[in-house]
Amino acid sequence: MMEDFIDRLRSAADIVSIISDYVPLKKKGRNFWGCCPFHNEKTPSFSVNPDKGFFYCFGCQAGGNVFNFIMRIENTGFSDAAKILAAKLNIPLPEKEKSEQDRAREKELNKLYQINEMARDFFHSCLVKTSYGKPALAYLASRGINDAVIERFKLGFAPPAWDKLLTSFLARGVDELSLLKAGLIVARSSGDGFYDRFRNRVMFPIADTRSRVVGFGGRVLDNSEPKYLNSPETPVFNKKHVLYGIDLAYKAIRDAGRAIVVEGYMDLISVQTAGFQNAVASLGTAFTPEQARLLLRHAPEIQFAYDSDAAGQNATQRALITAKSLGAAIRIVAIPDGKDPDEYIRKYGADAFRNLVQEAAGFVEYQINRILAATDYTGLEGKLTVISQALPVLASSDNDIEINTYITRLADVLSVDESAIRSEFRKYLRMHKKDKNVKSGNNINIVKISTQPAAATTAAERQIIRLMCEDAAIIPYVMAELRSNDFEAASRREIINSLFNAYNMNKSTAPAVIAATLGEEANQELSQIMLADSRCDNVTRVVDDCLRTIRLARLKYQYEQQRNKVEELERMGDSRCLQELAEMQRIKDEISKLYNA
Ligand code: UTP
Ligand code: MN
Repeated sequence: MMEDFIDRLRSAADIVSIISDYVPLKKKGRNFWGCCPFHNEKTPSFSVNPDKGFFYCFGCQAGGNVFNFIMRIENTGFSDAAKILAAKLNIPLPEKEKSEQDRAREKELNKLYQINEMARDFFHSCLVKTSYGKPALAYLASRGINDAVIERFKLGFAPPAWDKLLTSFLARGVDELSLLKAGLIVARSSGDGFYDRFRNRVMFPIADTRSRVVGFGGRVLDNSEPKYLNSPETPVFNKKHVLYGIDLAYKAIRDAGRAIVVEGYMDLISVQTAGFQNAVASLGTAFTPEQARLLLRHAPEIQFAYDSDAAGQNATQRALITAKSLGAAIRIVAIPDGKDPDEYIRKYGADAFRNLVQEAAGFVEYQINRILAATDYTGLEGKLTVISQALPVLASSDNDIEINTYITRLADVLSVDESAIRSEFRKYLRMHKKDKNVKSGNNINIVKISTQPAAATTAAERQIIRLMCEDAAIIPYVMAELRSNDFEAASRREIINSLFNAYNMNKSTAPAVIAATLGEEANQELSQIMLADSRCDNVTRVVDDCLRTIRLARLKYQYEQQRNKVEELERMGDSRCLQELAEMQRIKDEISKLYNA
Protein backbone atom coordinates (compact mmCIF):
# COMPACT_ATOMS: atom_id res chain seq x y z
CA MET A 1 0.00 0.00 0.00
CA MET A 2 2.65 2.47 1.17
CA GLU A 3 5.04 0.99 -1.38
CA ASP A 4 2.50 1.46 -4.16
CA PHE A 5 2.19 5.06 -3.16
CA ILE A 6 5.94 5.61 -3.22
CA ASP A 7 6.19 3.85 -6.58
CA ARG A 8 3.48 6.10 -7.95
CA LEU A 9 5.31 9.18 -6.75
CA ARG A 10 8.56 7.90 -8.19
CA SER A 11 7.12 7.35 -11.63
CA ALA A 12 5.02 10.52 -11.66
CA ALA A 13 7.77 12.85 -10.46
CA ASP A 14 9.71 14.43 -13.29
CA ILE A 15 12.91 15.35 -11.54
CA VAL A 16 13.65 18.30 -13.82
CA SER A 17 10.33 20.01 -13.21
CA ILE A 18 10.41 19.29 -9.48
CA ILE A 19 13.92 20.70 -9.08
CA SER A 20 13.02 23.65 -11.34
CA ASP A 21 10.65 24.77 -8.58
CA TYR A 22 13.75 25.51 -6.54
CA VAL A 23 16.60 26.01 -9.00
CA PRO A 24 16.54 27.58 -12.47
CA LEU A 25 17.86 24.88 -14.82
CA LYS A 26 19.20 25.03 -18.37
CA LYS A 27 19.52 22.13 -20.75
CA LYS A 28 23.04 21.37 -21.96
CA GLY A 29 23.52 18.07 -23.76
CA ARG A 30 21.45 15.35 -22.13
CA ASN A 31 21.53 16.96 -18.71
CA PHE A 32 20.17 20.07 -17.07
CA TRP A 33 22.42 22.47 -15.22
CA GLY A 34 22.04 25.14 -12.58
CA CYS A 35 23.68 26.74 -9.57
CA CYS A 36 23.78 24.33 -6.69
CA PRO A 37 21.26 25.16 -3.95
CA PHE A 38 23.35 23.29 -1.41
CA HIS A 39 26.49 25.36 -1.59
CA ASN A 40 27.41 28.87 -2.69
CA GLU A 41 28.50 29.16 -6.28
CA LYS A 42 28.33 31.51 -9.23
CA THR A 43 28.99 29.09 -12.09
CA PRO A 44 26.65 26.11 -12.40
CA SER A 45 28.08 22.76 -11.33
CA PHE A 46 24.75 21.28 -10.30
CA SER A 47 23.46 18.75 -12.84
CA VAL A 48 20.18 16.90 -13.21
CA ASN A 49 19.92 13.76 -15.26
CA PRO A 50 16.30 13.32 -16.36
CA ASP A 51 16.78 9.81 -17.75
CA LYS A 52 18.18 8.36 -14.58
CA GLY A 53 16.15 10.63 -12.35
CA PHE A 54 19.03 11.85 -10.27
CA PHE A 55 20.93 15.03 -9.53
CA TYR A 56 24.56 15.56 -8.71
CA CYS A 57 26.66 18.59 -7.82
CA PHE A 58 30.25 18.47 -9.02
CA GLY A 59 31.10 21.22 -6.55
CA CYS A 60 29.83 19.81 -3.27
CA GLN A 61 29.11 16.20 -4.27
CA ALA A 62 25.49 16.45 -3.18
CA GLY A 63 23.49 13.95 -5.17
CA GLY A 64 20.53 11.63 -5.21
CA ASN A 65 17.08 11.02 -6.55
CA VAL A 66 14.05 13.27 -6.34
CA PHE A 67 13.28 12.13 -2.78
CA ASN A 68 16.81 12.94 -1.66
CA PHE A 69 16.53 16.35 -3.25
CA ILE A 70 13.31 17.22 -1.41
CA MET A 71 14.61 15.80 1.87
CA ARG A 72 17.69 17.89 1.59
CA ILE A 73 16.26 21.15 0.37
CA GLU A 74 13.22 21.03 2.66
CA ASN A 75 15.31 19.59 5.46
CA THR A 76 12.87 16.75 6.18
CA GLY A 77 12.78 13.01 6.54
CA PHE A 78 11.65 10.60 3.88
CA SER A 79 7.97 10.47 4.72
CA ASP A 80 7.57 14.24 4.85
CA ALA A 81 9.42 14.50 1.56
CA ALA A 82 6.95 12.01 0.11
CA LYS A 83 4.06 14.15 1.35
CA ILE A 84 5.53 17.31 -0.17
CA LEU A 85 6.07 15.51 -3.44
CA ALA A 86 2.52 14.13 -3.38
CA ALA A 87 1.16 17.64 -2.88
CA LYS A 88 3.20 18.96 -5.81
CA LEU A 89 1.98 16.12 -8.03
CA ASN A 90 -1.62 16.23 -6.84
CA ILE A 91 -1.45 12.61 -5.77
CA PRO A 92 -3.69 11.87 -2.78
CA LEU A 93 -2.00 10.50 0.32
CA PRO A 94 -2.78 6.84 1.03
CA GLU A 95 -5.51 6.65 3.60
CA LYS A 96 -4.29 5.27 6.84
CA GLU A 97 -7.06 2.79 7.02
CA LYS A 98 -6.23 0.48 9.82
CA SER A 99 -9.11 -1.85 10.33
CA GLU A 100 -11.00 -1.91 13.60
CA GLN A 101 -9.32 -5.25 14.18
CA ASP A 102 -5.81 -3.89 13.63
CA ARG A 103 -6.43 -1.11 16.04
CA ALA A 104 -7.78 -3.43 18.71
CA ARG A 105 -4.79 -5.69 18.25
CA GLU A 106 -2.36 -2.81 18.51
CA LYS A 107 -4.06 -1.65 21.68
CA GLU A 108 -3.83 -5.11 23.18
CA LEU A 109 -0.11 -5.37 22.40
CA ASN A 110 0.63 -1.94 23.80
CA LYS A 111 -1.16 -2.87 26.99
CA LEU A 112 0.97 -5.99 27.33
CA TYR A 113 4.19 -4.02 26.80
CA GLN A 114 3.03 -1.59 29.44
CA ILE A 115 2.17 -4.32 31.95
CA ASN A 116 5.50 -6.01 31.31
CA GLU A 117 7.29 -2.76 31.94
CA MET A 118 5.37 -2.34 35.20
CA ALA A 119 6.32 -5.88 36.15
CA ARG A 120 9.98 -5.18 35.37
CA ASP A 121 9.86 -2.16 37.66
CA PHE A 122 7.97 -4.13 40.31
CA PHE A 123 10.58 -6.92 40.36
CA HIS A 124 13.38 -4.39 40.28
CA SER A 125 12.15 -2.50 43.31
CA CYS A 126 11.50 -5.76 45.16
CA LEU A 127 15.18 -6.50 44.61
CA VAL A 128 16.74 -3.18 45.46
CA LYS A 129 14.19 -1.49 47.71
CA THR A 130 12.54 -4.15 49.87
CA SER A 131 13.80 -6.57 52.47
CA TYR A 132 12.56 -9.45 50.28
CA GLY A 133 15.41 -8.66 47.97
CA LYS A 134 18.21 -9.36 50.47
CA PRO A 135 18.85 -13.03 49.67
CA ALA A 136 18.69 -12.29 45.95
CA LEU A 137 21.14 -9.41 46.29
CA ALA A 138 23.46 -11.70 48.20
CA TYR A 139 23.11 -14.33 45.50
CA LEU A 140 23.89 -11.83 42.73
CA ALA A 141 26.87 -10.53 44.67
CA SER A 142 28.15 -14.08 45.02
CA ARG A 143 28.08 -14.25 41.22
CA GLY A 144 30.03 -11.04 40.88
CA ILE A 145 27.12 -8.83 39.88
CA ASN A 146 27.33 -5.33 41.31
CA ASP A 147 24.78 -2.52 41.63
CA ALA A 148 25.72 -0.89 38.34
CA VAL A 149 25.10 -4.16 36.49
CA ILE A 150 21.80 -4.67 38.32
CA GLU A 151 20.74 -1.21 37.15
CA ARG A 152 21.95 -1.65 33.60
CA PHE A 153 20.06 -4.90 33.11
CA LYS A 154 17.21 -3.84 35.43
CA LEU A 155 17.52 -7.15 37.24
CA GLY A 156 14.81 -7.91 39.75
CA PHE A 157 13.46 -10.34 42.28
CA ALA A 158 10.09 -12.09 42.43
CA PRO A 159 9.16 -12.36 46.11
CA PRO A 160 8.72 -15.82 47.71
CA ALA A 161 4.93 -15.52 48.03
CA TRP A 162 1.95 -16.62 45.95
CA ASP A 163 0.34 -13.33 45.04
CA LYS A 164 2.56 -10.31 45.68
CA LEU A 165 2.54 -9.21 42.05
CA LEU A 166 -1.11 -10.13 41.57
CA THR A 167 -2.42 -8.11 44.53
CA SER A 168 -0.16 -5.19 43.83
CA PHE A 169 -1.24 -5.03 40.19
CA LEU A 170 -4.96 -5.49 40.93
CA ALA A 171 -4.69 -2.61 43.38
CA ARG A 172 -3.22 -0.51 40.57
CA GLY A 173 -6.14 -1.29 38.28
CA VAL A 174 -4.61 -3.98 36.09
CA ASP A 175 -7.11 -6.75 35.38
CA GLU A 176 -6.49 -10.45 35.82
CA LEU A 177 -7.13 -11.30 32.19
CA SER A 178 -4.33 -8.98 31.06
CA LEU A 179 -1.93 -10.39 33.64
CA LEU A 180 -2.81 -13.85 32.44
CA LYS A 181 -2.19 -12.84 28.83
CA ALA A 182 1.15 -11.36 29.82
CA GLY A 183 2.07 -14.70 31.41
CA LEU A 184 2.66 -13.12 34.78
CA ILE A 185 0.00 -15.10 36.61
CA VAL A 186 -1.30 -18.65 36.31
CA ALA A 187 -4.85 -19.95 36.86
CA ARG A 188 -5.26 -22.24 39.84
CA SER A 189 -6.05 -25.76 38.75
CA SER A 190 -9.08 -25.71 41.06
CA GLY A 191 -10.42 -23.13 38.65
CA ASP A 192 -10.91 -20.36 41.13
CA GLY A 193 -8.36 -17.60 41.24
CA PHE A 194 -4.79 -17.08 40.10
CA TYR A 195 -1.26 -17.03 41.50
CA ASP A 196 2.03 -15.42 40.48
CA ARG A 197 4.02 -17.36 37.89
CA PHE A 198 7.38 -16.12 39.12
CA ARG A 199 8.13 -16.66 42.79
CA ASN A 200 11.37 -16.54 44.71
CA ARG A 201 13.45 -16.04 41.58
CA VAL A 202 16.02 -13.53 40.33
CA MET A 203 14.31 -11.85 37.41
CA PHE A 204 15.87 -11.05 34.03
CA PRO A 205 13.62 -8.75 31.98
CA ILE A 206 13.85 -9.44 28.23
CA ALA A 207 13.39 -6.54 25.82
CA ASP A 208 13.18 -6.24 22.04
CA THR A 209 15.31 -3.97 19.85
CA ARG A 210 12.99 -1.09 20.61
CA SER A 211 13.49 -1.65 24.34
CA ARG A 212 9.94 -2.86 24.89
CA VAL A 213 9.76 -5.47 27.64
CA VAL A 214 8.47 -8.66 26.03
CA GLY A 215 8.99 -11.26 28.75
CA PHE A 216 11.07 -12.56 31.63
CA GLY A 217 13.40 -15.26 32.73
CA GLY A 218 13.65 -16.11 36.41
CA ARG A 219 16.42 -18.05 38.13
CA VAL A 220 16.19 -19.93 41.40
CA LEU A 221 18.65 -18.98 44.14
CA ASP A 222 19.58 -22.56 44.92
CA ASN A 223 19.74 -25.86 43.06
CA SER A 224 16.04 -26.45 42.72
CA GLU A 225 14.34 -27.15 39.42
CA PRO A 226 13.63 -25.77 36.98
CA LYS A 227 16.74 -23.61 37.18
CA TYR A 228 15.24 -21.02 34.87
CA LEU A 229 11.58 -20.33 34.33
CA ASN A 230 10.69 -18.22 31.30
CA SER A 231 7.57 -16.36 30.23
CA PRO A 232 5.20 -18.57 28.23
CA GLU A 233 4.44 -17.66 24.62
CA THR A 234 2.32 -14.51 24.68
CA PRO A 235 1.23 -12.11 21.95
CA VAL A 236 4.47 -10.20 22.58
CA PHE A 237 6.80 -13.04 23.61
CA ASN A 238 7.82 -15.43 20.89
CA LYS A 239 10.83 -17.42 21.97
CA LYS A 240 11.96 -17.95 18.40
CA HIS A 241 12.45 -14.21 17.94
CA VAL A 242 13.89 -13.31 21.30
CA LEU A 243 17.52 -12.40 21.80
CA TYR A 244 18.31 -11.44 25.35
CA GLY A 245 20.30 -8.20 25.47
CA ILE A 246 19.53 -7.06 21.90
CA ASP A 247 18.25 -3.70 23.17
CA LEU A 248 21.64 -2.98 24.73
CA ALA A 249 23.63 -4.62 21.96
CA TYR A 250 22.30 -3.69 18.55
CA LYS A 251 24.21 -0.43 18.14
CA ALA A 252 27.46 -2.08 19.17
CA ILE A 253 26.72 -4.93 16.76
CA ARG A 254 26.47 -2.41 13.94
CA ASP A 255 29.67 -0.68 14.99
CA ALA A 256 31.60 -3.92 15.37
CA GLY A 257 30.16 -5.48 12.23
CA ARG A 258 29.57 -8.66 14.19
CA ALA A 259 27.49 -10.08 16.98
CA ILE A 260 28.60 -12.46 19.71
CA VAL A 261 25.97 -15.03 20.62
CA VAL A 262 26.05 -16.81 23.98
CA GLU A 263 23.59 -19.29 25.48
CA GLY A 264 22.51 -18.02 28.85
CA TYR A 265 21.35 -14.99 30.78
CA MET A 266 24.38 -14.92 33.03
CA ASP A 267 26.75 -15.46 30.11
CA LEU A 268 25.27 -12.44 28.40
CA ILE A 269 25.62 -10.25 31.45
CA SER A 270 29.22 -11.33 32.04
CA VAL A 271 30.25 -10.94 28.40
CA GLN A 272 28.64 -7.52 28.01
CA THR A 273 30.07 -6.39 31.32
CA ALA A 274 33.51 -7.59 30.21
CA GLY A 275 33.29 -5.01 27.43
CA PHE A 276 31.64 -6.90 24.59
CA GLN A 277 28.53 -4.85 24.19
CA ASN A 278 27.82 -6.54 20.88
CA ALA A 279 26.76 -9.73 22.67
CA VAL A 280 23.29 -11.28 22.86
CA ALA A 281 21.98 -14.54 24.33
CA SER A 282 19.91 -17.00 22.34
CA LEU A 283 18.45 -18.47 25.57
CA GLY A 284 18.40 -22.24 25.68
CA THR A 285 19.96 -24.32 23.02
CA ALA A 286 18.30 -23.79 19.64
CA PHE A 287 19.46 -20.79 17.64
CA THR A 288 16.61 -20.03 15.25
CA PRO A 289 16.59 -18.61 11.69
CA GLU A 290 14.52 -15.74 13.06
CA GLN A 291 17.25 -14.90 15.55
CA ALA A 292 19.86 -15.14 12.81
CA ARG A 293 17.92 -12.77 10.57
CA LEU A 294 17.52 -10.30 13.38
CA LEU A 295 21.28 -10.20 13.87
CA LEU A 296 22.09 -10.14 10.16
CA ARG A 297 20.01 -7.02 9.86
CA HIS A 298 22.70 -5.28 11.86
CA ALA A 299 25.91 -7.06 10.87
CA PRO A 300 27.11 -9.75 8.49
CA GLU A 301 29.10 -11.83 10.98
CA ILE A 302 28.05 -13.95 13.95
CA GLN A 303 30.48 -15.30 16.54
CA PHE A 304 29.15 -18.16 18.59
CA ALA A 305 30.45 -18.49 22.14
CA TYR A 306 28.42 -21.39 23.44
CA ASP A 307 29.17 -23.60 26.43
CA SER A 308 32.00 -26.03 25.87
CA ASP A 309 30.04 -29.00 27.22
CA ALA A 310 28.57 -31.57 24.83
CA ALA A 311 25.15 -29.91 24.78
CA GLY A 312 26.73 -26.57 23.97
CA GLN A 313 28.80 -28.08 21.17
CA ASN A 314 25.79 -29.78 19.65
CA ALA A 315 23.93 -26.51 19.87
CA THR A 316 26.87 -24.79 18.16
CA GLN A 317 26.79 -27.26 15.34
CA ARG A 318 23.11 -26.66 14.69
CA ALA A 319 23.45 -22.90 15.10
CA LEU A 320 26.28 -22.83 12.54
CA ILE A 321 24.14 -24.54 9.96
CA THR A 322 21.24 -22.19 10.62
CA ALA A 323 23.45 -19.11 10.41
CA LYS A 324 25.45 -20.28 7.42
CA SER A 325 22.38 -21.14 5.40
CA LEU A 326 21.28 -17.53 5.83
CA GLY A 327 24.59 -16.27 4.51
CA ALA A 328 26.20 -15.22 7.77
CA ALA A 329 29.96 -15.10 8.11
CA ILE A 330 30.70 -17.32 11.08
CA ARG A 331 33.28 -17.65 13.80
CA ILE A 332 33.37 -19.93 16.78
CA VAL A 333 34.82 -18.87 20.09
CA ALA A 334 36.09 -21.95 21.89
CA ILE A 335 35.80 -21.78 25.68
CA PRO A 336 38.26 -24.23 27.24
CA ASP A 337 37.80 -26.51 30.27
CA GLY A 338 34.11 -27.32 29.89
CA LYS A 339 33.18 -23.85 31.01
CA ASP A 340 30.59 -21.37 29.87
CA PRO A 341 31.59 -17.77 29.06
CA ASP A 342 30.40 -16.51 32.44
CA GLU A 343 32.47 -19.04 34.38
CA TYR A 344 35.45 -18.42 32.11
CA ILE A 345 35.37 -14.66 32.56
CA ARG A 346 34.87 -14.98 36.32
CA LYS A 347 37.87 -17.28 36.57
CA TYR A 348 40.31 -15.84 34.03
CA GLY A 349 39.11 -12.28 33.46
CA ALA A 350 37.95 -10.13 30.58
CA ASP A 351 41.34 -9.99 28.83
CA ALA A 352 41.60 -13.75 28.66
CA PHE A 353 38.15 -13.83 27.11
CA ARG A 354 39.19 -11.13 24.65
CA ASN A 355 41.99 -13.43 23.52
CA LEU A 356 39.54 -16.24 22.94
CA VAL A 357 37.41 -13.94 20.81
CA GLN A 358 40.43 -12.81 18.83
CA GLU A 359 41.43 -16.40 18.21
CA ALA A 360 37.91 -17.42 17.20
CA ALA A 361 38.04 -20.11 14.54
CA GLY A 362 36.46 -19.81 11.11
CA PHE A 363 33.85 -22.30 10.00
CA VAL A 364 36.19 -24.69 8.18
CA GLU A 365 38.84 -24.62 10.88
CA TYR A 366 36.27 -25.33 13.57
CA GLN A 367 34.67 -28.20 11.69
CA ILE A 368 37.97 -29.84 10.77
CA ASN A 369 39.16 -29.62 14.36
CA ARG A 370 35.91 -31.10 15.53
CA ILE A 371 36.15 -34.01 13.13
CA LEU A 372 39.74 -34.68 14.13
CA ALA A 373 38.87 -34.55 17.82
CA ALA A 374 35.97 -36.96 17.42
CA THR A 375 37.83 -39.64 15.49
CA ASP A 376 40.67 -42.01 16.29
CA TYR A 377 42.65 -41.68 13.09
CA THR A 378 45.61 -43.88 13.89
CA GLY A 379 44.28 -46.65 11.63
CA LEU A 380 43.34 -46.52 7.98
CA GLU A 381 39.62 -46.65 8.71
CA GLY A 382 39.85 -43.62 10.98
CA LYS A 383 41.79 -41.69 8.34
CA LEU A 384 39.15 -42.46 5.73
CA THR A 385 36.40 -41.41 8.12
CA VAL A 386 38.09 -38.08 8.78
CA ILE A 387 38.62 -37.43 5.08
CA SER A 388 35.08 -38.33 4.09
CA GLN A 389 33.69 -36.03 6.77
CA ALA A 390 36.11 -33.26 5.90
CA LEU A 391 35.29 -33.16 2.18
CA PRO A 392 31.86 -31.53 2.46
CA VAL A 393 33.30 -29.03 4.92
CA LEU A 394 36.06 -28.10 2.48
CA ALA A 395 33.51 -27.91 -0.31
CA SER A 396 31.52 -25.38 1.69
CA SER A 397 34.39 -22.91 1.40
CA ASP A 398 34.72 -20.69 -1.62
CA ASN A 399 38.25 -19.70 -0.72
CA ASP A 400 40.91 -21.76 -2.49
CA ILE A 401 43.64 -20.68 -0.13
CA GLU A 402 41.61 -21.88 2.82
CA ILE A 403 40.84 -25.17 1.10
CA ASN A 404 44.50 -25.75 0.25
CA THR A 405 45.63 -24.90 3.74
CA TYR A 406 43.37 -27.49 5.28
CA ILE A 407 44.16 -30.16 2.74
CA THR A 408 47.83 -29.71 3.59
CA ARG A 409 47.06 -29.80 7.28
CA LEU A 410 44.93 -32.90 7.00
CA ALA A 411 47.66 -34.65 5.00
CA ASP A 412 50.10 -33.72 7.72
CA VAL A 413 48.00 -34.76 10.69
CA LEU A 414 46.76 -37.98 9.12
CA SER A 415 50.10 -38.83 7.49
CA VAL A 416 48.34 -39.28 4.18
CA ASP A 417 49.62 -38.20 0.80
CA GLU A 418 48.37 -34.71 0.02
CA SER A 419 47.67 -35.50 -3.61
CA ALA A 420 45.42 -38.39 -2.52
CA ILE A 421 43.24 -36.02 -0.49
CA ARG A 422 43.22 -33.56 -3.35
CA SER A 423 42.03 -36.19 -5.77
CA GLU A 424 39.31 -37.31 -3.32
CA PHE A 425 38.25 -33.70 -3.04
CA ARG A 426 37.97 -33.30 -6.79
CA LYS A 427 35.99 -36.51 -6.95
CA TYR A 428 33.69 -35.21 -4.25
CA LEU A 429 33.11 -31.95 -6.09
CA ARG A 430 32.31 -33.80 -9.30
CA MET A 431 29.88 -36.15 -7.61
CA HIS A 432 28.28 -33.34 -5.76
CA LYS A 433 27.68 -31.51 -8.98
CA LYS A 434 26.20 -34.60 -10.58
CA ASP A 435 23.90 -34.92 -7.60
CA LYS A 436 22.51 -31.55 -8.29
CA ASN A 437 21.96 -32.37 -11.94
CA VAL A 438 20.11 -35.56 -11.14
CA LYS A 439 17.85 -33.60 -8.87
CA SER A 440 17.04 -31.06 -11.52
CA GLY A 441 15.90 -33.83 -13.81
CA ASN A 442 12.67 -33.80 -11.88
CA ASN A 443 9.60 -33.59 -14.10
CA ILE A 444 8.40 -30.36 -12.57
CA ASN A 445 11.51 -28.61 -13.74
CA ILE A 446 10.41 -27.93 -17.29
CA VAL A 447 12.44 -24.82 -17.81
CA LYS A 448 16.17 -24.91 -18.02
CA ILE A 449 18.05 -22.02 -16.57
CA SER A 450 21.73 -22.03 -17.37
CA THR A 451 23.83 -20.71 -14.55
CA GLN A 452 26.37 -18.15 -15.54
CA PRO A 453 29.88 -18.49 -14.20
CA ALA A 454 30.05 -17.05 -10.71
CA ALA A 455 33.08 -15.06 -11.81
CA ALA A 456 30.89 -12.82 -13.94
CA THR A 457 28.74 -11.92 -10.96
CA THR A 458 31.77 -11.29 -8.80
CA ALA A 459 33.26 -9.01 -11.43
CA ALA A 460 29.99 -7.12 -11.82
CA GLU A 461 29.59 -6.67 -8.09
CA ARG A 462 33.11 -5.36 -7.78
CA GLN A 463 32.80 -3.09 -10.78
CA ILE A 464 29.65 -1.47 -9.54
CA ILE A 465 31.09 -0.90 -6.09
CA ARG A 466 34.11 0.78 -7.63
CA LEU A 467 31.95 3.01 -9.81
CA MET A 468 29.85 4.04 -6.82
CA CYS A 469 32.98 4.86 -4.85
CA GLU A 470 34.31 6.93 -7.71
CA ASP A 471 31.08 8.78 -8.36
CA ALA A 472 28.49 9.11 -5.62
CA ALA A 473 25.86 10.13 -8.17
CA ILE A 474 25.68 6.51 -9.22
CA ILE A 475 24.69 5.40 -5.73
CA PRO A 476 21.01 6.44 -5.82
CA TYR A 477 20.70 4.86 -9.20
CA VAL A 478 22.01 1.55 -7.91
CA MET A 479 20.01 1.96 -4.74
CA ALA A 480 16.81 2.17 -6.73
CA GLU A 481 17.62 -1.06 -8.54
CA LEU A 482 19.29 -3.30 -6.00
CA ARG A 483 19.36 -4.14 -2.35
CA SER A 484 22.51 -5.23 -0.58
CA ASN A 485 20.97 -8.71 -0.37
CA ASP A 486 21.16 -8.99 -4.11
CA PHE A 487 24.94 -9.17 -3.84
CA GLU A 488 26.44 -12.61 -3.50
CA ALA A 489 29.36 -12.11 -1.17
CA ALA A 490 28.87 -11.10 2.45
CA SER A 491 31.88 -8.79 2.30
CA ARG A 492 30.46 -6.90 -0.64
CA ARG A 493 27.05 -6.75 1.01
CA GLU A 494 28.75 -5.09 3.92
CA ILE A 495 30.41 -2.54 1.62
CA ILE A 496 27.12 -1.84 -0.14
CA ASN A 497 25.30 -1.37 3.14
CA SER A 498 27.92 1.03 4.28
CA LEU A 499 27.83 2.99 1.00
CA PHE A 500 24.02 3.18 1.00
CA ASN A 501 23.98 4.21 4.65
CA ALA A 502 26.57 6.91 4.19
CA TYR A 503 24.72 8.18 1.17
CA ASN A 504 21.35 8.19 2.94
CA MET A 505 22.81 10.06 5.85
CA ASN A 506 24.50 12.60 3.65
CA LYS A 507 27.91 11.46 4.75
CA SER A 508 31.00 11.10 2.64
CA THR A 509 31.12 8.01 0.47
CA ALA A 510 34.84 8.32 -0.20
CA PRO A 511 36.46 4.85 -0.12
CA ALA A 512 38.70 5.82 2.78
CA VAL A 513 35.71 6.85 4.87
CA ILE A 514 33.73 3.75 3.94
CA ALA A 515 36.72 1.54 4.68
CA ALA A 516 36.78 2.80 8.25
CA THR A 517 33.28 1.40 8.83
CA LEU A 518 34.07 -2.10 7.58
CA GLY A 519 35.17 -5.32 9.15
CA GLU A 520 38.48 -6.80 8.16
CA GLU A 521 37.29 -8.99 5.34
CA ALA A 522 35.13 -6.32 3.72
CA ASN A 523 37.97 -3.88 4.11
CA GLN A 524 40.32 -6.13 2.20
CA GLU A 525 37.73 -6.65 -0.45
CA LEU A 526 37.28 -2.91 -0.83
CA SER A 527 41.00 -2.28 -1.19
CA GLN A 528 41.21 -4.97 -3.82
CA ILE A 529 38.30 -3.42 -5.67
CA MET A 530 39.77 0.07 -5.58
CA LEU A 531 43.19 -1.11 -6.68
CA ALA A 532 41.91 -2.80 -9.81
CA ASP A 533 42.38 -1.14 -13.16
CA SER A 534 39.43 1.12 -13.61
CA ARG A 535 39.27 2.70 -17.05
CA CYS A 536 35.87 2.61 -18.61
CA ASP A 537 34.47 4.91 -21.28
CA ASN A 538 30.77 4.53 -20.98
CA VAL A 539 29.94 4.49 -17.28
CA THR A 540 26.18 4.34 -17.71
CA ARG A 541 26.45 1.34 -20.00
CA VAL A 542 28.79 -0.41 -17.63
CA VAL A 543 26.55 0.30 -14.66
CA ASP A 544 23.55 -1.06 -16.49
CA ASP A 545 25.45 -4.18 -17.51
CA CYS A 546 26.57 -4.75 -13.94
CA LEU A 547 23.06 -4.26 -12.60
CA ARG A 548 21.77 -6.75 -15.10
CA THR A 549 24.38 -9.36 -14.24
CA ILE A 550 23.78 -8.98 -10.53
CA ARG A 551 20.02 -9.10 -10.85
CA LEU A 552 20.26 -12.17 -13.05
CA ALA A 553 22.43 -13.97 -10.53
CA ARG A 554 20.02 -13.07 -7.79
CA LEU A 555 16.99 -14.18 -9.77
CA LYS A 556 18.64 -17.43 -10.67
CA TYR A 557 19.37 -18.03 -7.04
CA GLN A 558 15.76 -17.27 -6.15
CA TYR A 559 14.64 -19.51 -8.94
CA GLU A 560 16.75 -22.34 -7.58
CA GLN A 561 15.31 -21.83 -4.10
CA GLN A 562 11.80 -21.68 -5.41
CA ARG A 563 12.31 -24.80 -7.44
CA ASN A 564 13.48 -26.70 -4.38
CA LYS A 565 10.43 -25.47 -2.52
CA VAL A 566 8.11 -26.59 -5.27
CA GLU A 567 9.78 -29.98 -5.46
CA GLU A 568 9.47 -30.41 -1.74
CA LEU A 569 5.77 -29.49 -1.78
CA GLU A 570 5.18 -31.77 -4.71
CA ARG A 571 6.84 -34.64 -2.91
CA MET A 572 4.57 -34.09 0.06
CA GLY A 573 1.51 -33.77 -2.17
CA ASP A 574 0.90 -30.32 -0.71
CA SER A 575 -1.74 -28.30 -2.55
CA ARG A 576 0.24 -25.08 -2.14
CA CYS A 577 2.51 -26.55 -4.80
CA LEU A 578 0.54 -24.89 -7.62
CA GLN A 579 0.71 -21.48 -6.05
CA GLU A 580 4.45 -21.80 -5.56
CA LEU A 581 4.79 -23.09 -9.07
CA ALA A 582 3.18 -19.87 -10.28
CA GLU A 583 5.76 -17.89 -8.33
CA MET A 584 8.48 -20.01 -9.89
CA GLN A 585 7.08 -19.18 -13.30
CA ARG A 586 7.02 -15.49 -12.40
CA ILE A 587 10.70 -15.58 -11.50
CA LYS A 588 11.43 -17.38 -14.72
CA ASP A 589 9.55 -14.73 -16.70
CA GLU A 590 11.56 -12.04 -15.01
CA ILE A 591 14.71 -13.86 -15.98
CA SER A 592 13.66 -14.10 -19.63
CA LYS A 593 12.71 -10.43 -19.59
CA LEU A 594 16.19 -9.57 -18.40
CA TYR A 595 17.72 -11.81 -21.03
CA ASN A 596 15.76 -10.11 -23.77
CA ALA A 597 16.33 -6.60 -22.46
P1 UTP B 1 22.50 -23.45 31.45
O1 UTP B 1 21.99 -24.65 32.15
O2 UTP B 1 23.78 -23.54 30.68
O3 UTP B 1 22.56 -22.35 32.55
O4 UTP B 1 21.34 -22.96 30.48
P2 UTP B 1 23.48 -21.05 32.69
O5 UTP B 1 23.05 -20.03 31.70
O6 UTP B 1 24.91 -21.42 32.73
O7 UTP B 1 22.95 -20.56 34.08
P3 UTP B 1 23.74 -20.29 35.43
O8 UTP B 1 25.08 -19.77 35.07
O9 UTP B 1 23.76 -21.57 36.17
O10 UTP B 1 22.86 -19.28 36.08
C1 UTP B 1 21.55 -22.04 29.46
C2 UTP B 1 20.29 -21.28 29.21
O11 UTP B 1 19.23 -22.18 28.91
C3 UTP B 1 18.01 -21.69 29.40
C4 UTP B 1 18.32 -20.36 30.02
O12 UTP B 1 18.12 -19.35 29.07
C5 UTP B 1 19.77 -20.50 30.39
O13 UTP B 1 20.41 -19.25 30.57
N1 UTP B 1 17.44 -22.57 30.42
C6 UTP B 1 18.22 -23.38 31.16
C7 UTP B 1 16.08 -22.52 30.65
O14 UTP B 1 15.35 -21.78 29.99
N2 UTP B 1 15.54 -23.31 31.65
C8 UTP B 1 16.31 -24.11 32.43
O15 UTP B 1 15.78 -24.78 33.33
C9 UTP B 1 17.68 -24.16 32.15
MN1 MN C 1 26.49 -20.51 33.74
